[in-house]
Amino acid sequence: MSTHNHYSHFLARIYDKVLHIPVRNIRSSVAKVIKNNGSGRVIDLCCGTGNQIVYLRKAGIENSIGIDISDNMLHQAWRNGLKDVCLKMDASATTFHNDEFDAAIMSFSLHEMHADTAQKVFLESKRIVKPGGLLIVVDYCFDEQTQPVGRFATRAVERFVGGDHYRNFKYFMGNALLSKFSDGLSVREKKRFLFGAVGLWVYIND
Ligand SMILES: C[S@@+](CC[C@H](N)C(=O)[O-])C[C@H]1O[C@@H](n2cnc3c(N)ncnc32)[C@H](O)[C@@H]1O
Repeated sequence: MSTHNHYSHFLARIYDKVLHIPVRNIRSSVAKVIKNNGSGRVIDLCCGTGNQIVYLRKAGIENSIGIDISDNMLHQAWRNGLKDVCLKMDASATTFHNDEFDAAIMSFSLHEMHADTAQKVFLESKRIVKPGGLLIVVDYCFDEQTQPVGRFATRAVERFVGGDHYRNFKYFMGNALLSKFSDGLSVREKKRFLFGAVGLWVYIND
């Protein structure tokens, strides 16, 4: 398996600190959705440093795990006290059984992947979450509700990261890939954050 070191040791170390203020309301909202739904077993696909799982645990949702492909991000998750909770696995081809989870989270991850990989991750979430379970996506959203400052800041951040990541982001946004992946699923809830540049979608698995 590739080690996918797009996330340097340094970036992994500062990730939670830099993002704490912008993402805290989003993380809390995701935890609230899961808590209100009474979802028992939760998987955070592409969990990074495990920060969302920390919020789940604070909300009393203990039975959650995460997977990620980056050693540096996983080491940070382990430093965050999630040693047996965040595991190394490719989210586009997991080893979980069908219908194993009540909810899956894909947060700030689909946009940075190659389109085929992003689609595989989304399909994998549908496979491992039971019918009627929740597929929760947090990702960028550009439409009439997005304020110019939100678009500008998002593009600046993604351009700063650069490389494949930026190319994938542009393709993801330009081709509205999330709406293609989720076509036909019913949306239980949709919220917007950060000047309308980030969406939180709660889909019901079919
Ligand atoms: C921007 S970070 C988001 C991390 C976390 N979900 C969050 O909300 O902060 C994207 C993460 O996706 C992970 N990732 C990318 N491709 C992956 C794959 N095929 N399988 C598992 N993780 C992947 C990266 O290693 C990285 O940790």
